[in-house]
Amino acid sequence: MKILSGIQPSGQLHLGNYFGMIQPVLDMREGNEHYIFIANYHAMTSLHEGEKLAAGTLEAAADFLAMGLDPKRCLFWVQSDVPEVQELTWILSTITPMGLLERCHSYKDKVAKGVAASHGLFSYPVLMAADILLYQPDVVPVGKDQKQHLEVARDLALKFNNQFGETFKLPEAAISETTAVVPGLDGQKMSKSYGNTIPLFPETEKALKKRVMAVETDSVPVEEPKDPAGCTLYALLRLFASPERMTEIHDLYVNGGAAYGVLKLELLDLLNDRFAAARERKKEYMADPGEVRNILRKGAEKARSKAAPTLEAVRRKVGIIW
Ligand code: ADP
Ligand code: TRP
Repeated sequence: MKILSGIQPSGQLHLGNYFGMIQPVLDMREGNEHYIFIANYHAMTSLHEGEKLAAGTLEAAADFLAMGLDPKRCLFWVQSDVPEVQELTWILSTITPMGLLERCHSYKDKVAKGVAASHGLFSYPVLMAADILLYQPDVVPVGKDQKQHLEVARDLALKFNNQFGETFKLPEAAISETTAVVPGLDGQKMSKSYGNTIPLFPETEKALKKRVMAVETDSVPVEEPKDPAGCTLYALLRLFASPERMTEIHDLYVNGGAAYGVLKLELLDLLNDRFAAARERKKEYMADPGEVRNILRKGAEKARSKAAPTLEAVRRKVGIIW
């Protein structure tokens, strides 16, 4: 199977990104063809500081490599290093009904949160469809918030196929039910734009501890029973603790005895254990940005060669090549 996914380099990666996208993608390593890219054009819909975008792109690449992405077994590149994607975006945009984009929640949510309502933000899903369709993947692992964008990609593939003849494979979204939406400190979806994240690679241990201690909890006293459903701390612990430990924690919640402060420290330890090795590897990559750039450049060359036949077929069908 061919697996493809992308991530925006618009801020520090967090637990939502990890469980919603990074881990599912990396778990599908065995026996599959893998395509992963850093969506820097997409990040430009919300980030207009060149230095930040450049630094974020390097960081996101180092994060993925540190998490175990093996560039020998996976195509790994930066979106803008494959110019073919822009041409396909334009071609797809000429068959994209306005209504399809007007219905996209993500656009409305971002505007409501203060992101400028630009044409780029509005047509974001068309660029994302081009990202996907250009490589003909079978499966696209993403968090639940991207489900509608995958539907747009499928709609556009179908529309193009109907109008110009069979060209694109219809991609399937892979959304893990258990980690579809990881809650942030305040219980809302964890997201860079809500400022409620727990980062994978915190600047300091102290900064991480501060974040974990800030997970919102209710004020039910330790000895009284508590409802695990709807408790953010419980939901986060479930992502890390063993099933046996979770049974114990569940008993503490329902029978009384769950001390939030102690459980937060347990969560902090679990987090540190899970990501300690990756944090060390990240330091090595960040010390050698030239090597990271090289890996990405080689990845882009391979990605371009994979994209070429699809784009050529599209150009022929629409009448650009004659
Ligand atoms: P953010 O909301 O922080 O800007 P992105 O939009 O860059 O995150 O998301 C990158 C990937 O991580 C996407 O596949 C997205 O669905 C997934 N993701 C982001 N936040 C969460 C979350 N809280 N729970 C599950 N998956 C998430
Ligand atoms: N929109 C995705 C996000 O915010 C990132 C992305 C861009 C993507 N192009 C993609 C994800 C193609 C999967 C496939 O997370």
